[in-house]
Amino acid sequence: MSIKRIAISTGGGDAPGLNAVIRAIVLCSIHRGWKCYGIRDGYNGLLTPHEYPKGGLVRLNRDSVRGITHLGGTILGTTNRGNPLRFPTVDNDGHVYEKDRTDELVSKFKAQNLDALIAIGGDGSLIIAHVLYKKGVRVVGVPKTIDNDLDQTVITFGFDTAVHFATECLDRLHSTAEAHQRIIVVEVMGRYAGWIALNAGVAATADAILIPEIPYDINKVAEKVTQRDASGRNFSIVVVAEGARPKGGKHTVVGDKTAGQADRLGGIGQKISFDLEALTGKETRHVSLGHLLRGGTPTSFDRLLSLRFGAASVRALD
Ligand code: F6P
Repeated sequence: MSIKRIAISTGGGDAPGLNAVIRAIVLCSIHRGWKCYGIRDGYNGLLTPHEYPKGGLVRLNRDSVRGITHLGGTILGTTNRGNPLRFPTVDNDGHVYEKDRTDELVSKFKAQNLDALIAIGGDGSLIIAHVLYKKGVRVVGVPKTIDNDLDQTVITFGFDTAVHFATECLDRLHSTAEAHQRIIVVEVMGRYAGWIALNAGVAATADAILIPEIPYDINKVAEKVTQRDASGRNFSIVVVAEGARPKGGKHTVVGDKTAGQADRLGGIGQKISFDLEALTGKETRHVSLGHLLRGGTPTSFDRLLSLRFGAASVRALD
């Protein structure tokens, strides 16, 4: 079937490079004579159109994508509370439950005469995209996430920017840790993958790197700090991925799980810093880089990767 109209969706946590992907898709589509539309906030623009007085589906033309390659965030908006497979819905008693709205989404997509969807997202968004594909939508997925945790994917865009910034932060923390002869524990994002922690930690010469893939033994970390002290290196930098957990222990999460949302990881850096202070007797501080890793301008590597992904996703529809 020849294509006339395509839609783009950006879903889940944002990642630097999203706008560059959108720009490449729009320009390549225009070049083929296709009309391009953006769905606001994941799929909410189609599922809850009443929330968008200016329209949940927006026409994207050359002007819409001018000067956006270097911008963080996404011009379409995104959400990680709008999963159409588990859409948070309020019943008559005011309880929130999860509802599968994918059939409705497919109907609404087709009602707009859209011929194909380019879904830019991480694991959650690409699972949704796969379900839409199985329900008859022509779909191409573009792998996005700072976590770099997608199966069958060597590198996702957003990861390089996150690692670059985390490395810069670690370099800064290094000098203050040394000046005060402290331990500084730095928590980085990454969900259940240790890629950001490992790459930034090695690049910045951290003294211990704790990742979800290898549950840690806090006594070993404390031993390492004590050995360094004995050798005259009386400060230490410990990088910990938010999904790290002790041997036989659980992940550290923030708050209770809510309908339509995944567990919120976080807090392990603080726990480790308290544990290390107690075990080593050394003054310890902790910092969580959190969303700083997701914001801001993409590196040139991520811009180029994103532009290539965008162009390739359009070619995949040819
Ligand atoms: O998947 C990207 C990511 O930034 C993870 O590293 C992190 O666990 C999660 O999203 C945070 O999501 P939120 O923006 O909902 O806090």
